[in-house]
Amino acid sequence: MDRHNMSKFTLRWGILATGGIAESFSRDLTVNPETRNVNDIKHEIVAAASSSSADRASQFLKKVGAPSSAKGYGSYEELVADKDVDIIYVATPHSHHYQNAMLCLEGGKNVLCEKAFTVNAAQAKKLSEKAKEKNLFLMEAVWTRYFPLSIYVRDIITSGKIGKVHRTFADLSIGTLPEEAFDNSHRMVNPDLAGGALLDLGIYALTWVFQTLYHTQPESARKAPTVVSSLKKYPTGADEMTTMLLTFPRSEELGGDAHGIATTAFRTTPDPDGKGSAGPAIRVQGDKGEIQVFHPAFRPSKTKLVLFDGTVEEKTFTQPGPGKGSGFYNGFGDDKNPEGEGHGMFWEADECAFALKEGRKEGKYEGLQESIVIMETMDEVRKQNGMTYPEKIETTKFPTQL
Ligand SMILES: NC(=O)c1ccc[n+]([C@@H]2O[C@H](COP(=O)([O-])OP(=O)(O)OC[C@H]3O[C@@H](n4cnc5c(N)ncnc54)[C@H](OP(=O)(O)O)[C@@H]3O)[C@@H](O)[C@H]2O)c1
Repeated sequence: MDRHNMSKFTLRWGILATGGIAESFSRDLTVNPETRNVNDIKHEIVAAASSSSADRASQFLKKVGAPSSAKGYGSYEELVADKDVDIIYVATPHSHHYQNAMLCLEGGKNVLCEKAFTVNAAQAKKLSEKAKEKNLFLMEAVWTRYFPLSIYVRDIITSGKIGKVHRTFADLSIGTLPEEAFDNSHRMVNPDLAGGALLDLGIYALTWVFQTLYHTQPESARKAPTVVSSLKKYPTGADEMTTMLLTFPRSEELGGDAHGIATTAFRTTPDPDGKGSAGPAIRVQGDKGEIQVFHPAFRPSKTKLVLFDGTVEEKTFTQPGPGKGSGFYNGFGDDKNPEGEGHGMFWEADECAFALKEGRKEGKYEGLQESIVIMETMDEVRKQNGMTYPEKIETTKFPTQL
């Protein structure tokens, strides 16, 4: 190791689960941060665990390009016990996040936990309390919040460029016939795995509503919204379409109450032709103009600023990476990005490294309190519409065998 590298803060990752998103995230960890002008940290995958076998974990490590020294474990407990692991990325279905993240925290590990953070707010609160008790870092892996595009949109808002923001529309729908895409045991529709559009996709519509109407307010002025909602169930009992109308209480000085309209569905999409012809998926509206973000809400790359004074500014954000000719490919499932382009999950990983380097215990762009308020919002939507999950995945009892 040369002196230059020795001066870098290295974050040593353990990967808990070996499914689709664990693969995309891990591949992004192998990209040199210097390709995105991040020069003072490094990521290293030191281990992965599969609940099915050590062999599966080892195959996974090879597939994502982890160093040959990385260890493959056949149980999550062994990963948590590994002294070389600084932080664990939890990438199981939502139903399992509480049990898995609690296992990590109890074992003294920092945690980055996939969205939706937990099944309900009670579980999110317990995790937050445990992290505080153990003085550990804990963050919900809402990767989009750490994109340069999201930072740009939030800066547009806080700079006052579109005036006081009064309303945000945000949709994440995926234009998929669930009967054809998922069998009833699939995590997207299976209540045993906390399936449904709300927790899997609606969380991104809520992310945009919250990061434009809540996170961009002065901290002391952030107030939880009231919620009115409508939800359509799929035959499995999970939701296939959900619509939420949120009212954020705000002082007259800051602009008065603001409205957020967050929608999600399997069958429709805000981008039917895949070219943005149908318009933006997100519209953040102020009294001087609006900022628009184009589909998909989880990995957007295009914005449009339209002001009352006639200004129209379009911006495109590309994801950095090793570049053309590198042979590097990432994406999610069968959806591959162009050669050399990162998926964009490294931005949240960088935030974990910065936080641990600086001694912070929470994410900068979405702290635990905000994750809890969002879980409370989804709890309320489920309550208003009678959508419950099995008790064993709603419980805060730890450990519970799932
Ligand atoms: N940020 C994003 O863009 C994004 C995208 C997709 C998904 N996600 C989130 O990531 C999480 C995982 O999604 P995924 O698409 O990666 O799911 P997946 O492909 O089904 O993988 C889930 C993994 O969890 C482990 N697991 C443990 N118990 C399980 C059980 N009872 N049933 C199924 N899997 C079990 C399995 O790994 P082992 O056998 O190795 O233990 C499995 O491979 C979800 O919470 C989802 O919301 C995030």
